[in-house]
Amino acid sequence: MEILLCASEAYPLIKTGGLAEVCGSLPAALARLGHDVRLALPAYPAALEGAGALHEVSRLRLRASDPPVRVLRGTLPGSRTGLYLIDAPAYFNRPGNPYLQPDGRDWPDNAARFALFARACAALGLGTADSNWRPRLLHCNDWQTGLVPALLSRQSPRPATLFSIHNLAYQGLFPAATFQALELPDALWSIDGLEFHNQLSFIKGGIANADHIATVSPSYAREIRDEAFGYGLDGLLRHRSAHLSGILNGVDVERWNPASDPLIARRYDVHRLQHKLFNKFTLQRDHALPVNSQPLLLSYVGRLVDQKGVDMLLEIVDQLVRHPIQLVVLGNGERRLEEQLLAAAHRYPRQIAVTIGYDERLAHRIAAGSDALLMPSRYEPCGLSQMYAQLYGTVPIARRTGGLRDTIVDYNQTTLAARTATGLCFDDDSPQALLATCLGALRLYRDHRVDWWKLVIAGMQQDFSWTRGAARYSALYAALVRGETPHADTVPTQRHADGAPEPLRRAGQPLH
Ligand code: ADP
Ligand code: GLC
Repeated sequence: MEILLCASEAYPLIKTGGLAEVCGSLPAALARLGHDVRLALPAYPAALEGAGALHEVSRLRLRASDPPVRVLRGTLPGSRTGLYLIDAPAYFNRPGNPYLQPDGRDWPDNAARFALFARACAALGLGTADSNWRPRLLHCNDWQTGLVPALLSRQSPRPATLFSIHNLAYQGLFPAATFQALELPDALWSIDGLEFHNQLSFIKGGIANADHIATVSPSYAREIRDEAFGYGLDGLLRHRSAHLSGILNGVDVERWNPASDPLIARRYDVHRLQHKLFNKFTLQRDHALPVNSQPLLLSYVGRLVDQKGVDMLLEIVDQLVRHPIQLVVLGNGERRLEEQLLAAAHRYPRQIAVTIGYDERLAHRIAAGSDALLMPSRYEPCGLSQMYAQLYGTVPIARRTGGLRDTIVDYNQTTLAARTATGLCFDDDSPQALLATCLGALRLYRDHRVDWWKLVIAGMQQDFSWTRGAARYSALYAALVRGETPHADTVPTQRHADGAPEPLRRAGQPLH
């Protein structure tokens, strides 16, 4: 089936977070199932530079007042995924982060930028941008592509539309006047369209108008129907719940594999776990921390924003450092959190090391070199870092929410005995709960090393590949193209007594 995946970022061309990983790796998994998946992205400078050979398939004049937009065709590097770059230099020829100016504020014309991108995607969907190819379904992702289902809903015939929510908190909200300025069809200004409390909501375009909605884990699919997680859209999501599925993300298990990862200091697998220690020593040395196997090396990799609970981590650092614990942090985001983390590293240089910035290689080396990864997220639609951590034998310490709940089997006597435990989870959204869980991890690491290794090994044996997720998307696409209402299944079939899902075991026997 011909499918167009529309997104504002995709690895390896442009990445700020998990969305790029998903949009970079899902197409290859779908291609293995026989689909012709192509990806549409804005032509940012990094995308134009990284994409290699490109040729122009059309020039579109999307609005009389806009300059013509070039539609370029190529291939996503490192894959056979077809690529369309929407080249509108006035909007996208800006280096750095795709959404933010160098001072960290949103680009003031983001509404115009992503409305233009959406119009170009809709043209591709209708076959007017590439006369040789017409998709049967558009799979749109997050608010930047929310206008695509809204624009297509007014066309007939049209391709089917699926809208994936990767993070409901980012909605693309703009003043009502922007709706006029963008010259969007008047009929879309309604409570069933793009209006959200007298503002223009891009994400609502997708949620209200797509044939079906997906989100990136079964738990998050349930949570967003509640006021506490719904960011004002829970009512609409409840209304559309027959058309809402939760499909757990997969990861690129070839790139994130400690047995073949070219970015880490020494490769390893469950049979050569002693080599993981070499990665810990390298990480300590590279961060000027004492090189020693004894301390529990905790890490954090990710955006430094409220969602991720980094403020809770900051509240407990003074207590953590009283114990044989080291902490390595890699991230960027809110200035305030960056500064507080750097100040903590300055206070405790022998225990805390902080790198502010974005560094793909270091993210791999932290996954390989640390003992445990912290994800104290307030909410987490799916989360990928906890999956990478497990594959690298690094035990996740996480809040039990969203996709973290669906991908980590919490340690307790039952799961330990069953050798299914892979991490340590906590419920309360509080620094104390995080601290208590870190200290629990330290006890396990120091005093019950055999049990610790059971968690490590069970984590490394998880199957976090796209195999299941791609099959679910494939079935969803097929139903939507047939005009059926797919089964909005959000509940994993088997669950453990502690509420965690059936662990996704790789073929093969556990080691013990
Ligand atoms: P989110 O999409 O909410 O940021 P995820 O856990 O889904 O969270 O995905 C984050 C992805 O971005 C992971 O691949 C992680 O390794 C990567 N990442 C985040 N921040 C950084 C950083 N500063 N340097 C390198 N990689 C990062
Ligand atoms: C979002 C979410 C994250 C998810 C990612 C990919 O950025 O915050 O939880 O893993 O999208 O779907």
